[in-house]
Amino acid sequence: MCGIIGVTGTGPAVPRLIDSLKRLEYRGYDSAGVAALVDGKIERRRAKGKIRELEAVLAAEPLDATIGIGHTRWATHGAPTTANAHPHKAGRVTLVHNGIIENFAELKAELVAEGHAFESQTDTEVVAHLLDSQLGKINDPLVAFKTVLDRLTGAYALAVLIEGEDGLILGARRGSPLVVGWGEGEMYLGSDALAVGPFTQKISYLEEGDFVAIDRSGARMFDASGAPADRPIVQVSASSALVEKGEHRHFMEKEIHEQPDSVQHTLSEYLDFVNGKAKPGEIDFATVERIQIVACGTAFYAGQIGRYAFERLAGLPCDVEIASEFRYRHPALTKGTLAVAVSQSGETADTLASLTWCKAQGLKTAALVNVHSSSMAREAGTLWPTHAGPEIGVASTKAFTAQVAALLALAVTAGVQRGRIDPATEGELVRALFEAPRLIAESMAMDGALKEVAHDLSKATDVLFLGRGAMFPLAMEGALKLKEISYIHAEGYAAGELKHGPIALIDEETPTIALAPLDDVFEKTASNLQEIAARGGPVIMIAPKTAPDPHGAGIRRVDAPDCHSLIAPLIYAIPVQLLAYYTAVQKGTDVDQPRNLAKSVTVE
Ligand code: M6R
Repeated sequence: MCGIIGVTGTGPAVPRLIDSLKRLEYRGYDSAGVAALVDGKIERRRAKGKIRELEAVLAAEPLDATIGIGHTRWATHGAPTTANAHPHKAGRVTLVHNGIIENFAELKAELVAEGHAFESQTDTEVVAHLLDSQLGKINDPLVAFKTVLDRLTGAYALAVLIEGEDGLILGARRGSPLVVGWGEGEMYLGSDALAVGPFTQKISYLEEGDFVAIDRSGARMFDASGAPADRPIVQVSASSALVEKGEHRHFMEKEIHEQPDSVQHTLSEYLDFVNGKAKPGEIDFATVERIQIVACGTAFYAGQIGRYAFERLAGLPCDVEIASEFRYRHPALTKGTLAVAVSQSGETADTLASLTWCKAQGLKTAALVNVHSSSMAREAGTLWPTHAGPEIGVASTKAFTAQVAALLALAVTAGVQRGRIDPATEGELVRALFEAPRLIAESMAMDGALKEVAHDLSKATDVLFLGRGAMFPLAMEGALKLKEISYIHAEGYAAGELKHGPIALIDEETPTIALAPLDDVFEKTASNLQEIAARGGPVIMIAPKTAPDPHGAGIRRVDAPDCHSLIAPLIYAIPVQLLAYYTAVQKGTDVDQPRNLAKSVTVE
């Protein structure tokens, strides 16, 4: 994941930028760069590869400055080259960015028509051109910056230097985190507390939509409407540990909020955002006859969501099985089967044993794992990485959505390679996936309504989760999450299965959570909810505002963002996770280390 640092003070800025960038190496990156204001002019130094390559460039061409910005880039738009490395520059403006500017193509076309010349393939560069263009019309840099932010669609954290504005760094966040660090006569911006950790432990966490101006004497912060905002200064631990809870009470909460970033970085492994294409990988799906996914727990539900996509988009038969059953069942698999192990840790004993067994049968194998040096990563013929970063909470959240994101993207690749998806549809599906990080960030706004629902759930002894299509495995994941951390009994069902048994459980004390995106089966789910409401069961329907009302007494609605049906499992995962989280907090359980559970199950 990309890292950001900005320093404005009186001492040498560049050694500080480099120190911070080294601390951000853990996020993963493929190029790095810094920019500094030297004698009123902004100069950049950038390098492909590791920080040491950047240090070599700086040794040859040093920068002597007291203000600067730095960045580690994980390539999403455009290859990991020096030209695509941040900072990006246009006229008086130089900036670094984390996230995705979804409407960059449209903005770029507009700017090119106005005569702007671009030097990179990145989405980021449009922001620099747009701000430079606005600064030609508006004198006040903050006002100009706000007009630019208002035009951006997507997820971003930004740090900006402007020639002629000595001592000033602008910052903004939407979807990607950004913190302000308070020093003595020196101020900082960072992508997390760790970035500014070497210099200060006094942090203000910017909130969604905030923007900020820092200079040597302090910070002026504003909310999304442009009104002054007061974000408290908190003292963070001086620990240099790579993982901290930051502004969050629990790792689980932090990891839920990291999902715009982790999904984006995972998708960029499998999709070419610049050209709107699925990247062909090591495996040619045209040669695959069948997919057999093996996994445990949450990874098993991610696999089931993948199955819907592989079959629907690529016409590729796909089975998904719990690894502990698969490994002892003597399954009959045909030669053209691709065996896929899905696992966060890559060490789960049953999944690893199933993978080894498939390999011994002479099958092609792939491991979709978050720990890239794990046993499964080494055992499988092909490594499909997820880029969720370290997951500390025992209840899996960001690893799950990273698995789902990777499987959806791979299903698009499979559809293209098998001739089921034409170029126009490929473009539409890649665009839909491209919107996921922003919509995930927007989904966090459901938290107020979900806290109220969680208050009621915490009193229940049984809860049902319902969904159809890919929402069915997500319903099971929702039930698992709730069970794991709140210790409330919960079950996930296919909504259509209700009448075949579970409806007998319905009474006034048993809430039902319905995952109901506005898709081709929405009406069917809605009539199942009416059946529950008619029997006195409390129903909470998570659906977009635009979805019609199911007209049942006692059906409460929680509004989710509108989204393409392909990415609905990614978007609806957020309320499901938040609901479990807030219920557990309400009950006062040990959220990050629930009783009886281990993060990685390496024994049978
Ligand atoms: O590391 P893995 O993804 O292989 O782990 C599989 C399960 O143990 C894991 O998903 C477990 O169900 C989590 N506690 C779910 O939150």
